[in-house]
Amino acid sequence: MTPESSGARRRAAILISGRGSNMAALLDATADPAFPAEIVLVLSNRPGAGGLARAEQAGVPTLVIDHKQFDGRPAFDAALDAALEAAGVELVVLAGFMRLLTAEFTRKWLGRMVNIHPSLLPSFKGVHVHEQALAGGVRFSGCTVHFVTADMDAGPIIGQAVVPVVPGESPDDLAARTLSAEHRLYPAAVALVATGEARLEGGRTVYAGDAWARVTLT
Ligand code: GRF
Repeated sequence: MTPESSGARRRAAILISGRGSNMAALLDATADPAFPAEIVLVLSNRPGAGGLARAEQAGVPTLVIDHKQFDGRPAFDAALDAALEAAGVELVVLAGFMRLLTAEFTRKWLGRMVNIHPSLLPSFKGVHVHEQALAGGVRFSGCTVHFVTADMDAGPIIGQAVVPVVPGESPDDLAARTLSAEHRLYPAAVALVATGEARLEGGRTVYAGDAWARVTLT
């Protein structure tokens, strides 16, 4: 019997680099024993990441693996991988984790690693996303949860939430409203991946029944 079919909660790690508001939303959601994943580790590549204190408050084990202590990405990713394996992690959740991962690491965790990005991908990848959206004059922005592949912000989309753009607003205003949408979308998307209701097959996300509607937020 697989963990999915037995009803056991999937063991998830959250990787952060900063304030960790998405991490906090996930900790709140997973505090409900009915949520299909539990957070067994919060890992940061930055010793000063604000989110670490919040995770400790929630009683979740934390670990810092400072990328600056490593000679290159492969060595850092190998340390990450070892820590995830040691904690028995089944699902990796990137939440404001600001390091590019090697192709080898992404291959190993393919279908078991997700990320959230504050735009409606495939528009506006990378950084300064809200500036890009405002400069593009789009009427709708939003956020996207996707499976992580070797290409940054380009993996198969799991879910999206739409955020209308208010004419004349600042990047910070748009970022704040997008962040609220992220906090709704990310737990819903992680739940679908944890149950297997959204899974990666043949380079695309496939859904069980109408599960897609839970991660298609307008
Ligand atoms: C979020 O906007 C997320 O989409 C992006 O980085 C930001 C992280 O914010 N990848 P937080 O640390 O979760 O508050």
